[in-house]
Amino acid sequence: MTPTLSECAGEEFQPAAEKNLFGKYELGKLLGYGAFAKVYYGWDIESKQSFAIKAINKQRIMKNGLTVNVKREISAMRRLNHPNIVRLQEVLASQKKIYFVLEFAKGGELFSKVSRSRFSEDLSRRYFQQLISAIGYCHSRGVYHRDLKPENLLLDENWNLKVTDFGLSAVTHYDQADSAESTQSADGLLHTMCGTPAYVAPEILAKNGYDGAKVDIWSCGIILYVLNAGFLPFNDPNLMVMYRKIFKGEFRVPRWTSPELKRLLSRLLDTNPETRITVDEIVTDPWFRIGYNDGGFSSDHFEMKDGDDGGRNGGNLKSLNAFDIISFSSGYDLSGLFGDQDAGEMFLSTAAPEEVIERVAEAAEEERLTVVRRKKWCVKVDGGQYRKFTLLVEVKGLTEDIVVVEVRWRECESEPGPEMWNDRLRPRLSSLIYQPDGPVTGN
Ligand code: ADE
Repeated sequence: MTPTLSECAGEEFQPAAEKNLFGKYELGKLLGYGAFAKVYYGWDIESKQSFAIKAINKQRIMKNGLTVNVKREISAMRRLNHPNIVRLQEVLASQKKIYFVLEFAKGGELFSKVSRSRFSEDLSRRYFQQLISAIGYCHSRGVYHRDLKPENLLLDENWNLKVTDFGLSAVTHYDQADSAESTQSADGLLHTMCGTPAYVAPEILAKNGYDGAKVDIWSCGIILYVLNAGFLPFNDPNLMVMYRKIFKGEFRVPRWTSPELKRLLSRLLDTNPETRITVDEIVTDPWFRIGYNDGGFSSDHFEMKDGDDGGRNGGNLKSLNAFDIISFSSGYDLSGLFGDQDAGEMFLSTAAPEEVIERVAEAAEEERLTVVRRKKWCVKVDGGQYRKFTLLVEVKGLTEDIVVVEVRWRECESEPGPEMWNDRLRPRLSSLIYQPDGPVTGN
């Protein structure tokens, strides 16, 4: 994770001496850091409640003229109270530092999960719904985030998205007196160059002023694209080339993208802010609306039962909480197995784990692949000497009725080609994939 005002670097400032904050909070391990701030895990000494405590180096902030950013962040976060936005509990200050006591998002960064496996369209939609719910709320309160990017999207222990890091946010039409140096000029547009290149809207690059709401929508479009694809729509190692691609706004969607999603992406990533889709239009989009209950994620599907440590199937399946599930790869480290070139997908299913494994094994055999290892919750398949393809499928229990299926594969450019999972195996397993309109339990 990257705290606000990032640009990683910076001198160490020792937490040890300040482990105890005003006798009220205890500071634990470092969660992340940037040039001006560090974020620690912390807890309320009395209640034991967990928090993320952002310690901001006052002197550096002042030296770099960033006082206004800190004030703006406090002002923005104070006015926000939404289930998908990290809550600001309180702000404390010592002589050298300012401390933000923030709601702790136990699941870490959403995108550390996507970087391992792209998300199914259903999962992508659910996170996008939560994101839009949060952003629509911010906009309605006159707050524009302006730096929406993967590091600023966290997860709590219940599989819920939490938007954080309002360090670049601009506050308008509420109490602008909060910030002596407003960034809004006479034309009503914002004029600060901010954001992260790959997520930055073309009008920011053009430096002609921009509308905070419109640039947030663009970033949401990039985020949705990445959730679905597992990679960026506009990317290049050369920054100028990347900018050119952003300006042109030409992107290709991966072949697994539905026409409805493709349509929405093209409306989000419209280079013309005037015609770009608005939050009000997004919430009526047919692709977006599926399973949407206005509170964002319908938590019914993901809630854990109290004390859920048993499981279904006579307790054979260890039930995990959502946090365990989204980070389950760490419990079964695949990195040594697959290295860097692997690809993957993660989806939800209401089928029994045994059924998932059975169906994968069947599909593989129909493709004349070999099941090389099979356990109750895991199967490994490969193409043998002449077909350089390896597939690993792992099933984990999320709730009594839903499992998470993580699929990872590696293939060579030669036979059987990159289509093995997407075009041959996945279609055979499509009925296993949980659809919000009507959960399917296998065949
Ligand atoms: N890193 C930065 N902010 C955080 C938060 N609120 N919870 C967990 N990790 C974080």
